[in-house]
Amino acid sequence: MKIIIAGTGSALPVRSVTNDELAKTVDTSDEWIRSRTGIGARHIAGPEEELDVLGAAAAEQALARAGISAEELGLIIYGTATAGYVTPSAACRVQARIGAVNAVCFDLNAACSGFLYSMYTAESMMRMGRCRYALIIGGDMVTRYLNWEDRSTCVLFGDAAGAAVLAATDVEDAGDILSFSMGSNGSKGAVLSCRTLPEDHYLTMNGQEVFRFAVRTVPACIRDALEKAGAEKEEVKYFILHQANARIIEAAAKRLEMPLDRFPMNLPDTANTSAGTIPVLLDQMNRDGRLQRGDLLVLSGFGGGLTWGAAVLRY
Ligand code: ACO
Repeated sequence: MKIIIAGTGSALPVRSVTNDELAKTVDTSDEWIRSRTGIGARHIAGPEEELDVLGAAAAEQALARAGISAEELGLIIYGTATAGYVTPSAACRVQARIGAVNAVCFDLNAACSGFLYSMYTAESMMRMGRCRYALIIGGDMVTRYLNWEDRSTCVLFGDAAGAAVLAATDVEDAGDILSFSMGSNGSKGAVLSCRTLPEDHYLTMNGQEVFRFAVRTVPACIRDALEKAGAEKEEVKYFILHQANARIIEAAAKRLEMPLDRFPMNLPDTANTSAGTIPVLLDQMNRDGRLQRGDLLVLSGFGGGLTWGAAVLRY
């Protein structure tokens, strides 16, 4: 049995805030943000643009591109750390919006690695024969947890959701998810932390430690996943990495000794959308024709927890 990405979708809040606009209320500048992070703007959700609203919009597109109905889904996993409700889960709220009455639905919190962890979980369940079609969504509303007076964090994030329909198939020449390399290190949780208490709900981060962790871990788990897949890095068409920071992506490319043009980025327009970055970028690439069936792709994320992971797949 093979597991393929049958369709993708994405949704961004309407309001886009450029660095220059942000600099009117925060002591920062376009030059500082752009040169340190590659970020040029971020989308910030309004009160109506809840996580399930964006997730459902992304899901509808993914279902349409996969050519299946919501009733055919057996599973919905929403990778998010900012579900907004303790219960019901964002996945259940998406289910209600799209009418996926036959799906088992739950959220999965692996912070920025949420989409990858969701893919890892769904793939395992599908290989066990639990369902034929699964919807995995990665999305976050980090802007609701930012201290807008802390310029070291508030300039980095935006809101978004992206989705993919995974399909199990026996078709001979179909693509497949070939391998994963996943990990967590709870002892480093304080590096990137956010509580949900009414009096204490701001995200805090040791930026330099995140940077060091990311540039070491991402290339290592990509190498491990490639080895497990029996593939060479030169065969990879695109390395679709978590979009936290252009300098992290550049450092990963350098350590992997691969040209930067194989590392697509959308940081200039969407910033770091946590679990949203990988599926949103995947969908943008799918829509603009950069993804072709048969391409070898690497997806890799890292984030709070700490968590990280890489997947190698034949698209
Ligand atoms: N605008 C202007 N100045 C700023 C800003 C800002 N937005 N933020 C910080 N500064 C100032 C600081 O106050 C400091 O000033 P000082 O020297 O007078 O004290 C100076 O800039 C340098 O601050 P550093 O924190 O040392 O800046 P650094 O060069 O490390 O860059 C950054 C900070 C961009 C956050 C960097 O550490 C980084 O890229 N870290 C990776 C973290 C990351 O990408 N996190 C994403 C979220 S986590 C995730 O997705 C998993």
